[in-house]
Amino acid sequence: MRHFTSVKQLGDLKEAFAKARYVKENPFADQALGRNRTLLMLFFNSSLRTRLSTQKAAMNLGMNVIVLDVNQGAWKLETERGVIMDGDRPEHLLEAIPVMGCYCDVIGVRSFARFESKEDDYNEKILEQFIRYSGRPVFSMEAATRHPLQTFADMITIEEYKKTERPKVVMTWAPHPKALPQAVPNSFAEGMNLTGYEFVITHPEGYELDPAFVGKARVEYDQDKAFEGADFIYAKNWAAYSGDNYGKVLNTDRRWTVDSRKMALTNNAFFMHCLPVRRNMIVTDEVIESPQSIVIPEAANRVVSAQTVLKEILLSL
Ligand code: CP
Repeated sequence: MRHFTSVKQLGDLKEAFAKARYVKENPFADQALGRNRTLLMLFFNSSLRTRLSTQKAAMNLGMNVIVLDVNQGAWKLETERGVIMDGDRPEHLLEAIPVMGCYCDVIGVRSFARFESKEDDYNEKILEQFIRYSGRPVFSMEAATRHPLQTFADMITIEEYKKTERPKVVMTWAPHPKALPQAVPNSFAEGMNLTGYEFVITHPEGYELDPAFVGKARVEYDQDKAFEGADFIYAKNWAAYSGDNYGKVLNTDRRWTVDSRKMALTNNAFFMHCLPVRRNMIVTDEVIESPQSIVIPEAANRVVSAQTVLKEILLSL
């Protein structure tokens, strides 16, 4: 593996899960692999879990780590070619990227959808420029359309907690006051489509995701009906994808909040969320604090997913 931008690049899933299990059971076994190798983690957007878990994963592999918050302490970056740079952005991404490549062996990039141009977002304009111009292996720490390290951690978690070979996994939209990208739900749907699980997506009308990510999932507009018999509830908000509504909040209806009444419709489902989560918007205190909530082990598996992927990238150097 050279670049990692989608869970599709994990290859054979059984093998990927076996590699993840090995990493989890032997976190320091590959310290020599990363010795004298440097990871640059670059953040265009805020992070708690991705920052800490990826740094921890790199340290477990013996790597040196540099973390750069682009908007705090670095020159502000112009990202558009052809712009007359007479404003407040003194450096262009097209110089910054190869320069950053000179200082490291591997680059992780966090760059959310900007909701300014659906075309730019869905073409992964920023991430693709890193792949093209850095001369280094690049992995996504959440880009405009996918969050593959999160999805891999989610998949590892479901494998660990599932009680049947083919669990019913329901991804539900839930309300949020701000416009959030579709990266997590797209990526989760992409991951679920690689498995043999029963996969259902439920959301209000108007929140349809890109069909390329929905794949063979069943879309159910009645949230109660979707929850019936579920083994896992994966909650997430996302802004509208379709047409002129791209990037808009159409609905903050708290009847979509995941609560105990809805969880009672399930097959004693586990509750999952990538975090951070707005309590009593996305999920009630009661549900997220219940024994069925596995959001903390899910977050802990972020180290495992990042380390498994970083290890594969190091092996390719
Ligand atoms: N789930 C996740 O990516 O969390 P952070 O935004 O805190 O990194």
